[in-house]
Amino acid sequence: MSQKIKFGSKIGLIAATVGSAVGLGNVWRFPAETQANGGAVFLLIYICCVFLLGIPVMTAEFSLGRGGASDATGVFRNVTPDRKGWWMVGALAILASYLILSFYMVVSGWTLEYLFQSITGNLYHADTSTASFPAEEQLFTDRMSQYISGTYRPLVMTYIMLAANLVVLLKGVQKGIEKMSNIMMPILFILLVIFCAVSLSLPKASEGVAFFLRPDFSAVNAGTVVNALGQAFFSLSLAMGILVTYASYYPADTKLTRTAVTVSLLDLGVAILMGLIIFPAVMTFGLADHNLAGSALVFVTLPEIFAQMGWTQFWSALFFLLLAVGAFTSTISLAEVSVAFMECRFKMSRVKAVISVIAPLFVLSSICSLSVGPWSSFTICGMTIFDFLDTIATNIMLPLGGILLCIYMGWIAPRKFFKDELTNHGTLTSHVFGLVAFIVKWIAPLLIALILIWQFL
Ligand code: PFF
Repeated sequence: MSQKIKFGSKIGLIAATVGSAVGLGNVWRFPAETQANGGAVFLLIYICCVFLLGIPVMTAEFSLGRGGASDATGVFRNVTPDRKGWWMVGALAILASYLILSFYMVVSGWTLEYLFQSITGNLYHADTSTASFPAEEQLFTDRMSQYISGTYRPLVMTYIMLAANLVVLLKGVQKGIEKMSNIMMPILFILLVIFCAVSLSLPKASEGVAFFLRPDFSAVNAGTVVNALGQAFFSLSLAMGILVTYASYYPADTKLTRTAVTVSLLDLGVAILMGLIIFPAVMTFGLADHNLAGSALVFVTLPEIFAQMGWTQFWSALFFLLLAVGAFTSTISLAEVSVAFMECRFKMSRVKAVISVIAPLFVLSSICSLSVGPWSSFTICGMTIFDFLDTIATNIMLPLGGILLCIYMGWIAPRKFFKDELTNHGTLTSHVFGLVAFIVKWIAPLLIALILIWQFL
């Protein structure tokens, strides 16, 4: 089935795709991975992964999406109608993106809660009812559990995010997703540059920059490479059906290789800016040995930093606004994968498709939210439902989908199809096609298999 809906402008399609890529992965996953994997060496390996693996796989996804002109399952049927069964790779991606969305929405809700608490100032009010003032880290750890493991507030915040998704998705691809991205992405970049300037002017900025940019090669091991690969996949939104779906909205004259390079470089740029924001700040405020993993960085360490800076509430609100914007544009792209599927596969109207995707999320995301709060004693394989879904979708389904996608584009789809997409049917010269096709056929599936196997070692 060919789709008529397209993004209206080049800037719009780049903004939407970058909006999908830039999210919590850049803000809290990247600094944590960098800290845990030896600083600058990780950055170097990560950059290699983006160029050697990320850009070629992204190009393959764009080709499949635009050439297949359908949802994440339909593209396989359209490109190789005689090869039955490959649509299941798309189904795996849709399922994974939906599961990720169910907990990603909850975390987006937390960023919104922190935005409100920063604006009202409650986040920084010491609890005067306790006789002894808790140490700052304890204070913010307590606040975090108060805000994110409660029953009602996290649910309300998640529902606000869901409602915002509903509004944008209902407006459609051009008037909803594209327009929203055109407004939000410049805001996000401006906020990042402001934070970078502030952080780099802190007293011990140079020590932070040195940790981030001066490599210590003794810290490299196989784990570093695997972690960098996993981070590249997560951050670039690969193998989730997202890029395939968005590329199905790309006009025929879009230069796919150039778009993949632009999107990947902008995503990498945001990760590097985040490093230049976080490391100078943690060095200056003596928090370098603190755990930067996941929620601890964003909801404990950063508020500790803001509390020590002047204009605490202002900077804090601005930062959580940045985070909420990044998370929001990513939730939209995760949801659009399923919306497009409903529209194409079941011929639903946009309204019906959006409602059928968002409505069940009110239940699924509620379960995820409650599973880190009042239901935390209920576990599967020793994990809360939230962590279980995260592990299954991110650590297993995502790399598995990546391997299958590369096998499909490298071995099953006609080479001519791939080449036609990269050269816009011969109207562009593509010097890199041979290299891209080689990486997608041989190198990427093997490297991604490494990530998958590593999970079980
Ligand atoms: N790439 C986005 C991020 O880094 O947060 C969104 C995202 C897409 C997250 C796909 C996870 C994922 F599996």
